[in-house]
Amino acid sequence: MIFSSLVVVAAASLAASAFPQLLSREQVGVPISAPPRPTDTGILPIPEPDHPFIAPGPDDRRGPCPGLNTLANHGYLPRNGIASFEEIINATTHGYNMDYDLASGLAAFAMLARGNAFINKISIGLDSPLVPALPGEIDGPIARGLAAHGRFEGDVSMTRQDAAIGDNRNFQADLYDQLLSFVDQFGDNSTVTGPRSIVNQRVLAEFKYKRFVDSQAADKQLEYHIGRWLGSYGEASFTLNFFANGTDGILTVPTMTSFFRDQRFPANWNRRSGAGLLDKIGDDAGAILSAKPVQPGANDANGVYVPDTAPIDNCSFYNSFAEDVPAVLLNTTGLLKQNVDLLLDTVHNTFGAGCPVAEPRGAANV
Ligand code: HEM
Ligand SMILES: *[C@@H]1O[C@H](CO)[C@@H](O)[C@H](O)[C@H]1NC(C)=O
Ligand SMILES: *[C@@H]1O[C@H](CO)[C@@H](O)[C@H](O)[C@H]1NC(C)=O
Ligand SMILES: *[C@@H]1O[C@H](CO)[C@@H](O)[C@H](O)[C@H]1NC(C)=O
Ligand SMILES: *[C@@H]1O[C@H](CO)[C@@H](O)[C@H](O)[C@H]1NC(C)=O
Ligand SMILES: *[C@@H]1O[C@H](CO)[C@@H](O)[C@H](O)[C@H]1NC(C)=O
Repeated sequence: MIFSSLVVVAAASLAASAFPQLLSREQVGVPISAPPRPTDTGILPIPEPDHPFIAPGPDDRRGPCPGLNTLANHGYLPRNGIASFEEIINATTHGYNMDYDLASGLAAFAMLARGNAFINKISIGLDSPLVPALPGEIDGPIARGLAAHGRFEGDVSMTRQDAAIGDNRNFQADLYDQLLSFVDQFGDNSTVTGPRSIVNQRVLAEFKYKRFVDSQAADKQLEYHIGRWLGSYGEASFTLNFFANGTDGILTVPTMTSFFRDQRFPANWNRRSGAGLLDKIGDDAGAILSAKPVQPGANDANGVYVPDTAPIDNCSFYNSFAEDVPAVLLNTTGLLKQNVDLLLDTVHNTFGAGCPVAEPRGAANV
């Protein structure tokens, strides 16, 4: 094992000699291992006093995920926005009570698609000098980070624009204002925060549908195939399930604004009272989708939406991951291969339990 990881480092040095700018940052591989499961999955006031909000500095990375950005702004993830697999699992399970298996599956997919699985680091935003390309640049000359379009980040987000027509990384106030207008129309009433100030499934169903209709019309290059399609409804479900106040499970407008716009935990907020399991996320995502159905698909060259025809089954979502992970990762050896295998197993356990293993088949350097 020691020998084979040396081979990887040696291969990296050889490749790097063709690219002099890389010589100065030789990489040392880091073995990835699953962190322990949390023992306490009860309600908890978050943030804790030793995790104050501090706005990110100019070199700190932030990206399209309001959940991860908020964790970094409170130091649950490293404040520079560069995290390991274990740090992402620890932070999301602790801060939001995201179920351990769900957190592990997402973190594994992120690391495979957009991180450097050799040194166990990923940027939650754009690329960073702290996360060099994989050894030998087998997936291109930079590790792009979670904010890079494609693989994980995709179209029809709620508060980010499609990459082809706008800013796909930062909070977009105009889109958020549309969401608020749907809360005004379809939200529930609160005696504390006022009429129509509680976000519910109906609000998200109407808003997700509007976002699809607008993207379909405005973005000639719209891609909304099954992985992104289901993922985007999952993110709508995250909004209800992880941003709500854990005491009553209610998501009010001020609380939602704190997460999306300020990327900050609200004062007097509590994480949910039980771990947020993939099944529950999936059920709520399904309810949001079926209230205003949209098919997976993509725009053609004339801007006409072409729905996908492949039948959808319980393994479709897992299978779609394989397209977003570069096939070349299978052609590795030593410590990198060991990390890749652990991450692939983790994705399979979370999203493809009972499904045949889908080998990565994605293109490199995209
Ligand atoms: C566990 C690791 C996680 C990873 C790797 C991850 C990654 C991402 C990425 C790449 C996106 C952008 C997708 C896109 O819109 O194009 C995203 C969106 C989103 N994430 Fe996360 N996320 C994680 C956990 C969480 C958690 C714990 C929450 C909630 C507490 C969350 C809430 C959201 C929401 C609401 C969006 C949609 C934003 C929008 O559409 O405007 N995520 N996430
Ligand atoms: C994750 O949490 C566990 C349990 O609290 C701890 O032992 C471990 O050091 C943490 N790992 C990281 C990378 O923070
Ligand atoms: C909620 O408030 C709105 C606006 O004040 C009102 O029209 C509606 O009847 C209220 N709904 C309920 C269930 O009380
Ligand atoms: C969460 O609920 C508790 C109990 O009702 C309340 O005291 C607290 O203010 C709420 N927090 C937020 C952010 O709404
Ligand atoms: C998919 O999973 C659901 C829930 O576990 C199950 O009821 C259904 O039979 C499965 N469908 C297929 C085609 O395996
Ligand atoms: C993996 O390596 C084999 C043998 O060198 C090669 O034929 C194949 O094209 C490689 N696959 C990828 C995706 O790089």
